[in-house]
Amino acid sequence: MTGDAGAARHLYVHLPFCVHRCGYCDFVTVVGRQDQHEAYVDALLAELAREADSLADTVATVFIGGGTPTFTEPDALRRVLAALPPAVEVSVEANPETVTPELAALLRDGGANRVSLGAQTFAPRLLDVLDRVAGPDDVRRAVHTLRDASFDNISLDLVYGIPGQEPSDLSHDLAEALALAPEHLSLYELEAKPGTRFTHAWGDELARQSEAMEGYFERVVETLTAAGYRWYETANFCLTGRDLRAHHNLGYWQGHDYLGVGIGAVSTLGGLRRRNGASIGGYVAALAAGDEPPRELEQLDALTKAQERVMLGLRLDEPLPLAGLEAAIDAAAVARMTHGGLAVTGVGADGAETLSLTGRGRFLGGAVTVELLA
Ligand SMILES: C[S@@+](CC[C@H](N)C(=O)[O-])C[C@H]1O[C@@H](n2cnc3c(N)ncnc32)[C@H](O)[C@@H]1O
Ligand code: SF4
Repeated sequence: MTGDAGAARHLYVHLPFCVHRCGYCDFVTVVGRQDQHEAYVDALLAELAREADSLADTVATVFIGGGTPTFTEPDALRRVLAALPPAVEVSVEANPETVTPELAALLRDGGANRVSLGAQTFAPRLLDVLDRVAGPDDVRRAVHTLRDASFDNISLDLVYGIPGQEPSDLSHDLAEALALAPEHLSLYELEAKPGTRFTHAWGDELARQSEAMEGYFERVVETLTAAGYRWYETANFCLTGRDLRAHHNLGYWQGHDYLGVGIGAVSTLGGLRRRNGASIGGYVAALAAGDEPPRELEQLDALTKAQERVMLGLRLDEPLPLAGLEAAIDAAAVARMTHGGLAVTGVGADGAETLSLTGRGRFLGGAVTVELLA
């Protein structure tokens, strides 16, 4: 690693393997292929070694995402963990049914200190709609197993807007999640990509439900903030006392550089965005031959970077410093939004102007932000 002050302090590692493909999922995943896990990890570690100069001397966060990282063959997963640079936060995504005492020990001994569990919902009939393997008991058992292994930073992912989900189902999901006292919760509105098997099967029901989603979102925020969680990002909540925000994702939202390795992984390094190809065959072959993986490059101009910074920064509950972002913001729209009670301007500790959304503005989210952009 070099001492380059511009190098990334956030590292994303993609482990794409899953037991099966859930119908709603649009991530870069590969089903099964246990015989390829070791070869993939060889390639991944080769990419990480090639990219050593892209990382800062001190890495702040590592996020191992998927796919189902915890479905990776144990020896291969152990090798990944052993190759990581030390970091303050090392998160691993885990599917509940994969969490055994052995797996929890492997993660902990490998340096992971945060686990993000994909619960999605606690209603068995809705888990069926999502093609999920894990049931509610698997989620509860996974949390207890991680606690027994001394994990004190656990996050649960839930989704709302599942076809057939009633408001009472959402309340039940939130109550079940809260009963497990996770340090962190992510609540995502289910996204159905056009043209997918899932959208074909459930499109009519999703269209019928879409009007209700704002109300669902408000119910989520009200319930979780009443339970003592900080609504620190549009879809993310954490307990307070110590800073339990997801610092890896905070790096993205605050516009910091990051390095991503593995198939489908994205990096933003200075003004350059890179997207690795999704083919495992092409990835493994290129790195085995000593080449860089197939990837697309996109040069980001200053305006695009500033617009991204505004869009992501306004998702947070902390004011966005506006210095350097003036060209990306429509001053007349700011005046309209502040007048309408959707945004507030302020002055930061350094005396520079800041912008944030009010609670109402955050409920309307993307629509307000788009209007604020120049
Ligand atoms: C990389 S994904 C998958 C992690 C893990 N394999 C799992 O299934 O639990 C991380 C999270 O994104 C969310 N997610 C995945 N697909 C989604 C979709 N179509 N709409 C909304 N959220 C989605 C889920 O909550 C999931 O836990
Ligand atoms: S287990 Fe997770 S990553 Fe794999 S297909 Fe299902 S939602 Fe996608």
